[in-house]
Amino acid sequence: MSEAVQSEPIGKFKKRVFSGVQPSGGLTLGNYLGAIKRFVQMQNDDYETIYCVVDLHAITVWQNPKMLRQNIRELAASFIASGLDPKKSILFNQSAVPEHAQLGWVFNCVARMGWMQRMTQFKDKAGKNAQNASLGLFGYPALMAADILAYHATHVPVGDDQKQHLELTRDIAIKFNHDYEIDFFPVTEPVIGGPAARVMSLRDGTKKMSKSDPSDLSRINMTDNSDMIANKIRKAKTDQYGLPSEPKGLEGRAEAQNLVSIYAALGDQSLESVLSEIGGKQFSDFKPMLVERATAVLSPISSEMGRIMQDIPQLDKVLNDGAFKAKSLAEPILKKTFDIIGLN
Ligand code: TYM
Repeated sequence: MSEAVQSEPIGKFKKRVFSGVQPSGGLTLGNYLGAIKRFVQMQNDDYETIYCVVDLHAITVWQNPKMLRQNIRELAASFIASGLDPKKSILFNQSAVPEHAQLGWVFNCVARMGWMQRMTQFKDKAGKNAQNASLGLFGYPALMAADILAYHATHVPVGDDQKQHLELTRDIAIKFNHDYEIDFFPVTEPVIGGPAARVMSLRDGTKKMSKSDPSDLSRINMTDNSDMIANKIRKAKTDQYGLPSEPKGLEGRAEAQNLVSIYAALGDQSLESVLSEIGGKQFSDFKPMLVERATAVLSPISSEMGRIMQDIPQLDKVLNDGAFKAKSLAEPILKKTFDIIGLN
């Protein structure tokens, strides 16, 4: 067994990272910069890292079964192609470890209706037709809390849009600990930040870049080729001003802020250092620089994804091994949870 899965004394929290991405197809640059790239960075730090293809979350809206199977593998391939190393991190899919759903049920009984009704992402996703949304979509944040707390994870890297769900995770941990008078679940820290915590649409700098936007020009997909990336950046909305040399000069300029932030995050630079280099340039000079940087980062990832997808048995083996390791961590935590509640 690798070092990553040595068991810890239950109730004592060591630094452990958990995060997940839904395999609902069409990964964007937002997923990459806000989440996947940071997953890879954290595996090189002083953490034990666990990353999950959250397939049970994806079925909160209907998925074509054949496509779902494909999307699960593609997402796992994109993790690996981005630098996630299955020797350093545990990589698996959620449905392969039943403890997620079991603990999810426990948390359905801990979370309050009022808490769930405040979740803005449910309101956004359900839209005007909330009565017709699945119960799973409504209860989803309790399953997300279970994903994290089934491992006693202490740190969760996510984009800014998941902040409210992580606050709920903390509330669930606190209420469980309080109700059963035990310090059992950690109060998890969200790890949100950097210039790409919220990557915005290329067509409207006030809207999040999202796979569900009807316009493909609004987003860069992780599998877009260099011509597509160049075309989308060329058409990206801007304003008529030049670029400032300090972050203050981006205030009130959502599109400029977004493009410069993307450029900074792609190159692991701060906004300050980027602006000190490009301040005074026009968008006509800056956009080709952005195209070059985006292509240099994304092209090798998408060709590596293609290579990994050629060997499905090997990819499935990685996921199976990961599920085995994940289960060995989650099982004793679920068992202890049941003990605390009085279930066994
Ligand atoms: P999901 O699948 O919608 O997105 C995966 C990750 O990508 C981030 N992200 C972005 N970051 C910056 N800018 C954007 N435009 C952008 N779009 C997406 C998201 O913030 C997320 O980090 N509920 C989660 C999945 C989940 C999870 C978990 C995450 C389930 N269980 C446990 C962490 C821990 C979701 O739907 O992410």
